Amino acid sequence: MKEVYGLILAGGVGARMGNVEKPKQYMELGGRPVIIYTIEKFAVCPDFERIVVLCPATWVHYTEDLIRRYLPQVKNVFVTAGGETRNETLMNGIRFIETNDGLSEDTVIVTHDAVRPFVTHRILQENIQYAREKGACNTVIPATDTIVESTDGEWVTRIPDRRHMFQGQTPQSFNAKLLRDAYESLSPEEKDVLTDACKILVMKGIPVKLIRGEVYNIKITYPYDLRVAESILGGNLSC
Ligand code: CTP
Repeated sequence: MKEVYGLILAGGVGARMGNVEKPKQYMELGGRPVIIYTIEKFAVCPDFERIVVLCPATWVHYTEDLIRRYLPQVKNVFVTAGGETRNETLMNGIRFIETNDGLSEDTVIVTHDAVRPFVTHRILQENIQYAREKGACNTVIPATDTIVESTDGEWVTRIPDRRHMFQGQTPQSFNAKLLRDAYESLSPEEKDVLTDACKILVMKGIPVKLIRGEVYNIKITYPYDLRVAESILGGNLSC
Protein backbone atom coordinates (compact mmCIF):
# COMPACT_ATOMS: atom_id res chain seq x y z
CA MET A 1 0.00 0.00 0.00
CA LYS A 2 1.40 3.40 -1.00
CA GLU A 3 1.62 5.91 1.83
CA VAL A 4 2.80 9.45 1.06
CA TYR A 5 1.08 11.58 -1.58
CA GLY A 6 1.62 15.13 -2.73
CA LEU A 7 -1.59 16.95 -3.65
CA ILE A 8 -0.94 20.09 -5.66
CA LEU A 9 -4.01 22.31 -5.54
CA ALA A 10 -4.38 24.12 -8.85
CA GLY A 11 -8.17 24.15 -9.24
CA GLY A 12 -8.66 27.93 -8.90
CA VAL A 13 -9.15 30.52 -11.63
CA GLY A 14 -7.07 33.30 -10.08
CA ALA A 15 -9.77 36.00 -10.12
CA ARG A 16 -7.67 38.42 -8.05
CA MET A 17 -4.92 38.31 -10.68
CA GLY A 18 -7.28 40.26 -12.98
CA ASN A 19 -8.22 39.59 -16.55
CA VAL A 20 -5.45 37.29 -17.73
CA GLU A 21 -5.91 34.67 -20.43
CA LYS A 22 -4.97 31.77 -18.17
CA PRO A 23 -5.20 30.93 -14.46
CA LYS A 24 -2.20 32.30 -12.53
CA GLN A 25 -0.69 28.84 -11.92
CA TYR A 26 0.08 28.73 -15.68
CA MET A 27 1.60 32.22 -15.93
CA GLU A 28 5.30 32.48 -16.72
CA LEU A 29 7.91 33.00 -14.05
CA GLY A 30 11.52 33.12 -15.27
CA GLY A 31 10.52 31.45 -18.54
CA ARG A 32 8.56 28.51 -17.09
CA PRO A 33 4.97 28.21 -15.84
CA VAL A 34 4.59 28.77 -12.07
CA ILE A 35 3.07 25.31 -11.56
CA ILE A 36 6.15 23.60 -13.05
CA TYR A 37 8.38 24.96 -10.25
CA THR A 38 5.93 23.66 -7.67
CA ILE A 39 5.63 20.20 -9.21
CA GLU A 40 9.41 20.00 -9.54
CA LYS A 41 9.89 20.65 -5.79
CA PHE A 42 7.68 17.65 -5.05
CA ALA A 43 9.18 15.50 -7.82
CA VAL A 44 12.73 15.73 -6.44
CA CYS A 45 11.57 14.56 -3.02
CA PRO A 46 11.86 10.74 -3.03
CA ASP A 47 9.27 10.23 -0.27
CA PHE A 48 6.31 10.86 -2.59
CA GLU A 49 5.01 7.70 -4.24
CA ARG A 50 2.64 9.79 -6.31
CA ILE A 51 2.02 13.47 -6.91
CA VAL A 52 -1.55 14.38 -7.84
CA VAL A 53 -2.12 17.71 -9.56
CA LEU A 54 -5.71 18.95 -9.30
CA CYS A 55 -6.61 21.61 -11.85
CA PRO A 56 -9.77 22.99 -13.50
CA ALA A 57 -11.37 20.21 -15.62
CA THR A 58 -10.83 22.14 -18.86
CA TRP A 59 -7.10 22.52 -18.12
CA VAL A 60 -6.26 18.84 -17.47
CA HIS A 61 -4.83 18.11 -20.96
CA TYR A 62 -2.97 21.40 -21.00
CA THR A 63 -1.39 20.58 -17.63
CA GLU A 64 -0.43 17.08 -18.79
CA ASP A 65 1.24 18.60 -21.86
CA LEU A 66 3.20 21.07 -19.72
CA ILE A 67 4.49 18.28 -17.48
CA ARG A 68 5.54 16.20 -20.50
CA ARG A 69 7.30 19.22 -21.99
CA TYR A 70 9.07 20.66 -18.93
CA LEU A 71 9.53 17.60 -16.71
CA PRO A 72 9.84 14.66 -19.13
CA GLN A 73 11.90 12.63 -16.65
CA VAL A 74 9.17 12.72 -13.97
CA LYS A 75 6.89 9.68 -14.09
CA ASN A 76 4.88 9.72 -10.86
CA VAL A 77 2.73 12.81 -11.51
CA PHE A 78 -0.98 12.44 -12.31
CA VAL A 79 -3.39 15.18 -13.30
CA THR A 80 -7.09 15.19 -12.49
CA ALA A 81 -9.94 17.67 -12.07
CA GLY A 82 -10.30 19.79 -8.93
CA GLY A 83 -13.60 20.97 -7.41
CA GLU A 84 -15.72 24.09 -6.91
CA THR A 85 -13.95 25.11 -3.70
CA ARG A 86 -10.42 24.56 -2.43
CA ASN A 87 -11.66 21.95 0.06
CA GLU A 88 -13.62 20.17 -2.69
CA THR A 89 -10.44 20.10 -4.78
CA LEU A 90 -8.64 18.55 -1.81
CA MET A 91 -11.39 15.93 -1.38
CA ASN A 92 -11.15 15.07 -5.10
CA GLY A 93 -7.48 14.38 -4.45
CA ILE A 94 -8.31 11.98 -1.62
CA ARG A 95 -10.94 10.29 -3.83
CA PHE A 96 -8.36 9.91 -6.61
CA ILE A 97 -6.00 8.09 -4.21
CA GLU A 98 -8.83 5.92 -2.88
CA THR A 99 -9.92 4.90 -6.39
CA ASN A 100 -6.44 4.21 -7.74
CA ASP A 101 -4.47 2.85 -4.78
CA GLY A 102 -6.87 2.62 -1.83
CA LEU A 103 -6.52 4.50 1.46
CA SER A 104 -4.79 2.88 4.41
CA GLU A 105 -4.84 4.02 8.04
CA ASP A 106 -1.37 5.47 7.38
CA THR A 107 -1.94 7.31 4.10
CA VAL A 108 -0.51 10.81 4.40
CA ILE A 109 -1.29 13.75 2.09
CA VAL A 110 0.88 16.83 1.75
CA THR A 111 -1.45 19.46 0.28
CA HIS A 112 0.10 22.53 -1.31
CA ASP A 113 -0.98 25.61 -3.28
CA ALA A 114 0.22 25.33 -6.89
CA VAL A 115 0.92 29.05 -6.69
CA ARG A 116 3.59 28.73 -3.93
CA PRO A 117 6.56 27.73 -6.09
CA PHE A 118 9.22 28.44 -3.43
CA VAL A 119 8.40 25.65 -0.97
CA THR A 120 11.60 23.99 0.26
CA HIS A 121 12.79 20.44 0.75
CA ARG A 122 12.98 20.99 4.51
CA ILE A 123 9.36 22.19 4.67
CA LEU A 124 8.20 19.14 2.68
CA GLN A 125 10.23 16.75 4.86
CA GLU A 126 8.88 18.21 8.10
CA ASN A 127 5.33 18.09 6.76
CA ILE A 128 5.69 14.40 5.95
CA GLN A 129 7.25 13.66 9.35
CA TYR A 130 4.64 15.49 11.44
CA ALA A 131 1.64 14.36 9.40
CA ARG A 132 2.84 10.80 10.06
CA GLU A 133 3.55 11.34 13.75
CA LYS A 134 0.77 13.77 14.74
CA GLY A 135 -1.93 13.34 12.06
CA ALA A 136 -2.06 17.00 11.00
CA CYS A 137 0.29 19.96 10.54
CA ASN A 138 0.22 23.49 9.16
CA THR A 139 3.12 25.52 7.76
CA VAL A 140 3.26 29.05 9.23
CA ILE A 141 5.53 32.05 9.80
CA PRO A 142 5.31 34.39 12.81
CA ALA A 143 3.13 37.44 12.11
CA THR A 144 5.30 40.51 11.60
CA ASP A 145 2.49 43.07 11.59
CA THR A 146 0.06 43.37 14.48
CA ILE A 147 -3.20 41.63 13.52
CA VAL A 148 -6.26 43.83 14.03
CA GLU A 149 -9.65 42.12 14.09
CA SER A 150 -12.77 43.96 12.99
CA THR A 151 -15.98 42.00 12.54
CA ASP A 152 -17.70 44.82 10.60
CA GLY A 153 -14.71 46.37 8.80
CA GLU A 154 -15.45 49.69 10.54
CA TRP A 155 -14.39 49.33 14.17
CA VAL A 156 -11.67 47.42 15.95
CA THR A 157 -13.12 44.47 17.86
CA ARG A 158 -9.88 42.84 19.06
CA ILE A 159 -6.11 43.16 18.87
CA PRO A 160 -4.62 39.76 19.68
CA ASP A 161 -1.12 39.48 21.18
CA ARG A 162 1.22 39.44 18.17
CA ARG A 163 3.51 36.89 19.85
CA HIS A 164 0.70 34.36 19.48
CA MET A 165 -0.14 35.21 15.87
CA PHE A 166 1.19 33.39 12.80
CA GLN A 167 0.47 33.65 9.09
CA GLY A 168 -0.71 30.46 7.45
CA GLN A 169 1.17 29.17 4.41
CA THR A 170 1.09 25.74 2.80
CA PRO A 171 1.77 22.80 2.78
CA GLN A 172 -0.90 21.62 5.16
CA SER A 173 -0.51 17.89 5.69
CA PHE A 174 -2.78 15.24 7.10
CA ASN A 175 -3.55 11.67 7.72
CA ALA A 176 -5.94 11.34 4.75
CA LYS A 177 -8.68 9.43 6.57
CA LEU A 178 -8.61 11.79 9.56
CA LEU A 179 -9.22 14.82 7.32
CA ARG A 180 -11.79 13.11 5.10
CA ASP A 181 -13.86 11.87 8.04
CA ALA A 182 -13.78 15.31 9.70
CA TYR A 183 -14.82 17.02 6.43
CA GLU A 184 -17.62 14.54 5.74
CA SER A 185 -19.08 15.15 9.20
CA LEU A 186 -19.65 18.86 8.41
CA SER A 187 -23.04 20.30 7.45
CA PRO A 188 -23.29 22.22 4.11
CA GLU A 189 -23.30 25.49 6.11
CA GLU A 190 -20.17 24.50 8.01
CA LYS A 191 -18.49 23.52 4.73
CA ASP A 192 -19.19 27.06 3.45
CA VAL A 193 -17.53 28.66 6.48
CA LEU A 194 -14.62 26.28 7.09
CA THR A 195 -12.64 27.18 4.01
CA ASP A 196 -9.30 26.25 5.59
CA ALA A 197 -8.56 22.52 5.86
CA CYS A 198 -6.70 22.86 9.19
CA LYS A 199 -9.59 24.84 10.63
CA ILE A 200 -11.86 21.83 10.10
CA LEU A 201 -9.67 19.80 12.45
CA VAL A 202 -9.22 22.63 14.96
CA MET A 203 -13.02 23.04 15.17
CA LYS A 204 -13.26 19.30 15.91
CA GLY A 205 -10.71 19.60 18.71
CA ILE A 206 -8.04 17.65 16.77
CA PRO A 207 -4.48 18.97 17.42
CA VAL A 208 -2.59 20.47 14.48
CA LYS A 209 1.21 20.82 14.75
CA LEU A 210 2.94 23.99 13.49
CA ILE A 211 5.79 23.73 10.98
CA ARG A 212 8.13 26.66 10.40
CA GLY A 213 7.64 28.08 6.91
CA GLU A 214 9.78 30.65 5.10
CA VAL A 215 9.09 34.33 4.38
CA TYR A 216 9.80 33.68 0.70
CA ASN A 217 7.29 30.80 0.49
CA ILE A 218 4.85 33.37 -0.91
CA LYS A 219 1.51 32.75 -2.56
CA ILE A 220 1.06 34.42 -5.93
CA THR A 221 -2.30 36.17 -5.64
CA TYR A 222 -2.00 39.63 -7.26
CA PRO A 223 0.08 40.85 -10.25
CA TYR A 224 2.48 42.45 -7.73
CA ASP A 225 3.26 38.99 -6.27
CA LEU A 226 4.48 37.81 -9.66
CA ARG A 227 7.00 40.67 -9.65
CA VAL A 228 8.11 39.70 -6.13
CA ALA A 229 8.41 36.09 -7.30
CA GLU A 230 10.66 37.19 -10.20
CA SER A 231 13.00 38.91 -7.72
CA ILE A 232 13.04 35.91 -5.39
CA LEU A 233 13.99 33.75 -8.36
CA GLY A 234 16.57 36.25 -9.64
CA GLY A 235 18.11 36.79 -6.21
CA ASN A 236 18.20 33.05 -5.60
CA LEU A 237 16.63 33.61 -2.19
CA SER A 238 14.86 30.25 -2.12
CA CYS A 239 16.49 26.84 -2.01
N1 CTP B 1 -7.65 26.21 -5.52
C1 CTP B 1 -8.10 24.93 -5.88
N2 CTP B 1 -9.42 24.71 -6.11
C2 CTP B 1 -10.32 25.72 -5.99
C3 CTP B 1 -9.88 27.00 -5.61
C4 CTP B 1 -8.54 27.22 -5.37
O1 CTP B 1 -7.28 24.02 -6.00
N3 CTP B 1 -11.60 25.46 -6.25
C5 CTP B 1 -6.21 26.43 -5.38
C6 CTP B 1 -5.69 27.53 -6.30
O2 CTP B 1 -5.48 27.03 -7.63
C7 CTP B 1 -4.41 27.97 -5.62
C8 CTP B 1 -4.70 27.68 -4.14
O3 CTP B 1 -5.89 26.89 -4.09
O4 CTP B 1 -3.28 27.22 -6.02
C9 CTP B 1 -4.82 28.94 -3.32
O5 CTP B 1 -6.01 29.63 -3.64
P1 CTP B 1 -6.12 31.12 -4.18
O6 CTP B 1 -4.83 31.83 -4.13
O7 CTP B 1 -7.32 31.74 -3.57
O8 CTP B 1 -6.37 30.80 -5.73
P2 CTP B 1 -7.57 31.16 -6.67
O9 CTP B 1 -8.85 30.66 -6.12
O10 CTP B 1 -7.17 30.68 -8.03
O11 CTP B 1 -7.50 32.76 -6.66
P3 CTP B 1 -8.67 33.82 -6.53
O12 CTP B 1 -9.22 33.65 -5.13
O13 CTP B 1 -8.00 35.15 -6.77
O14 CTP B 1 -9.68 33.48 -7.61
